[in-house]
Amino acid sequence: MIKLKSNEEIDRIRESCKLLALTHNELGKIVSEGITTKELDKFAYDFIVKNGGKPAFLNYMGYPATLCTSVNDVVIHGIPDNTKIKKGDVVSLDLGINLNGFFSDSAATYIVGKGSAEAEKLVSVTKEALMLGIEQARAGNRIHDISRAVFTHAKKFGYGVVRDFCGHGVGFSPHEEPQIPNYVGSGPNPRLKPGMILAIEPMINAGKDDVKILSDGWTVKTIDKSISAHWEHTVAIFKDHTEILTILD
Ligand code: MF3
Ligand code: CO
Repeated sequence: MIKLKSNEEIDRIRESCKLLALTHNELGKIVSEGITTKELDKFAYDFIVKNGGKPAFLNYMGYPATLCTSVNDVVIHGIPDNTKIKKGDVVSLDLGINLNGFFSDSAATYIVGKGSAEAEKLVSVTKEALMLGIEQARAGNRIHDISRAVFTHAKKFGYGVVRDFCGHGVGFSPHEEPQIPNYVGSGPNPRLKPGMILAIEPMINAGKDDVKILSDGWTVKTIDKSISAHWEHTVAIFKDHTEILTILD
């Protein structure tokens, strides 16, 4: 069941999303050569707690950290550790916040220093795919309109589109219905309605579509060791417009 949110509830979810955007903004300033992913994780934890929130992923289904830090051929769910970030690394940071019981979710991918032309292109095309998906996320359209926009854009560049993980509803919990695949399949294709809160999140590989989960049960890597990018926003569907909640005003 898709849980529609009232305007008052959306106001509360927006507050969670604004704290998330602020946290991402701070993280963006400190992602640099030499910092470890664990240090980024600690920064995010402290910043969220200081501002009255709780990390939404920490202990969710057993996940052991605040951030997912996915470097180079890690697609998503990279667990923060003592590995130092190097020049040219492609670093995806995925973060969810629970603020007073209202959940937000967003991811961004950074290239540390000047990246390869391949990395720069992949990261910007993935962000474009997210924005094209969001453009389709309007009342009256359907979930697959989002999926198609993301998929078509990524495939225009010959990129791999991850099929094993999807976007999702969010707001009252970290993951809600509906699923939002980044490809058009034969799954459920509900119509978008005012009051829906969606986390749209293309995961795009420079190489093939295929990914594998490592033995830690979390880390998802590309099977061909190609680099991967991930962008995600939480958006709210209204009758006559759609609002990206996880950006700063
Ligand atoms: N941000 C991921 C998602 O959008 C979930 C991250 S890790 C988990 O689905 F621990 F929350 F699963
Ligand atoms: Co998500």
